[in-house]
Amino acid sequence: MAEKVTLATLKKYKQQARPITMLTCYDYAAAILLEQAGVDGIIVGDSLAQVMLGYDSTLQANMDLMVTLTAAVRRGAPNVYLVGDMPFLSYQLSTEQAILNAGKFLREASCDAVKFELDHRYVELVEELARAGIPVMAHLGYRPQAAGLKAQVVETRAAEQAEILIRDAQDVAAAGACSLLLECVTTMTAKAVTDRVDIPVISCGSGPHCDGQVIVLHELLDLPGASGPRFCKKYAAIGEKIKQAIQTYIHEVRDRKFPDDQHSYHMTPEAQAELEKRLQS
Ligand code: KIV
Repeated sequence: MAEKVTLATLKKYKQQARPITMLTCYDYAAAILLEQAGVDGIIVGDSLAQVMLGYDSTLQANMDLMVTLTAAVRRGAPNVYLVGDMPFLSYQLSTEQAILNAGKFLREASCDAVKFELDHRYVELVEELARAGIPVMAHLGYRPQAAGLKAQVVETRAAEQAEILIRDAQDVAAAGACSLLLECVTTMTAKAVTDRVDIPVISCGSGPHCDGQVIVLHELLDLPGASGPRFCKKYAAIGEKIKQAIQTYIHEVRDRKFPDDQHSYHMTPEAQAELEKRLQS
């Protein structure tokens, strides 16, 4: 049986410069495959609102949905490092509400950590969550839940913006965050963060110098509705494969090739003879 991946495992990988592999995942069956394939960590991202539910932003994800699906992923992948993603309005309103909602992810979905999108204005909240014993992955850089406020996705192209992000990252690490996720941060900025903090730093479109990588599973698999930004690499055309399997099924049903004997239930010859007799009387 696979060994459970913990925060200690991720920190050891950082020290050993062994890249940490993470993916998003939103359901039980895929979680089984991810754990069997050997991924270190899974983030059940609020991107599920887009790739699973077809919304055009992540804002429609809510606590019930996130916790239910995160628990399903945990059942499929009991040994990965599991991160639950705090949806829009689950942590912004008050510290008390943030602690209660984060606690739900730990209690009801057996998460190893919760992630939420932040900048320097949330340093105190990270501290409060850490005080409550809740492991936090701090999501910096591009923040999809605040996309409406931003003119651009990559904000750290200018030195001044890069410096702000590096300082924010150091502040949240000092406040007790146990890992960082950098989304769409320039490569040099991401390296500077990774070199300056002793907690694992995961890149999502932030280049090769972080301690690990995460991308959206549906984009890796090239499933429909998940076109993905530039940094997402498509590793297999699974959407096309699924469509072909469904087309084969449709043809076989129409051609009366499915179901065949092998995929049907039968009576014993004696029971069959008995039934025939009964139907004649
Ligand atoms: O929602 C999401 O999928 C994310 C990724 C950056 C992991 O936050």
